[in-house]
Amino acid sequence: MSRRIKLIAGNWKMNGSRAVGAAFIDRLGALRPAAGPMRRMLICPPATLISSMSDGLKALGVMIGGQDCHVQASGAFTGDISGPMLRDFGCDYVIVGHSERRAVHGETDQLVQAKALAALEIGLIPIICVGETLAEREAGQAESIVRAQIAQSVPDRIAPANLVVAYEPIWAIGTGRAATLDDIAAMHHTIRDALTVKSGDAEGGLVLYGGSVKPGNAAEILALDIVDGALIGGASLAAEDFAAIANTVSANA
Ligand code: PGA
Repeated sequence: MSRRIKLIAGNWKMNGSRAVGAAFIDRLGALRPAAGPMRRMLICPPATLISSMSDGLKALGVMIGGQDCHVQASGAFTGDISGPMLRDFGCDYVIVGHSERRAVHGETDQLVQAKALAALEIGLIPIICVGETLAEREAGQAESIVRAQIAQSVPDRIAPANLVVAYEPIWAIGTGRAATLDDIAAMHHTIRDALTVKSGDAEGGLVLYGGSVKPGNAAEILALDIVDGALIGGASLAAEDFAAIANTVSANA
């Protein structure tokens, strides 16, 4: 049995309309995957849907989060969204440093850490993403790359209660090819080790796995004691799949 709660988090990326959001909430309401002390659920829709989905998700015991936030609270930053804006719409979490933002928007570890600090300041829990490319893994560098990302992306002295890291090997994202259980367990041990330096606590905080998590593989991944939850892209768009993944974890320990 795991020592920590499991967080089942959906990342909708740039997908969904108001109709899709409403249908998701209706369907999830019919399926009713129960929240409980040992299982929390979270959906991070695109910013355009936070307003229309926030109340409906919360009524189902599902939290809502953003997919990114700016370092500043407000200002002349066309197209960006700030932490206070996410809080204003009831967000509890925000994803920072997703590999797609690192790759497509050139986000560095330093920027990711600054975003995490901005999120913490306003009362959002940042989900800080790390993960290696296939080339880095094949070159035997996966562990050192992820250690360096943790060292530079995770704020120093972060309180364990606010600490959520998602290990997402880039080659497993959206490819249908999840990492093996051995690879996941090994990297999660490495991350726990690296985080102990940051938070001073070997036990606190959550380390999620992400990358092609789906109903068919969620049970075995989430059964790993060292895995504290999942960050789910594609499969989180379907209420059936999201509920099925959540239901692989007991809501009450
Ligand atoms: P995936 O995406 O589940 O579609 O592989 C995961 C993610 O990018 O967070």
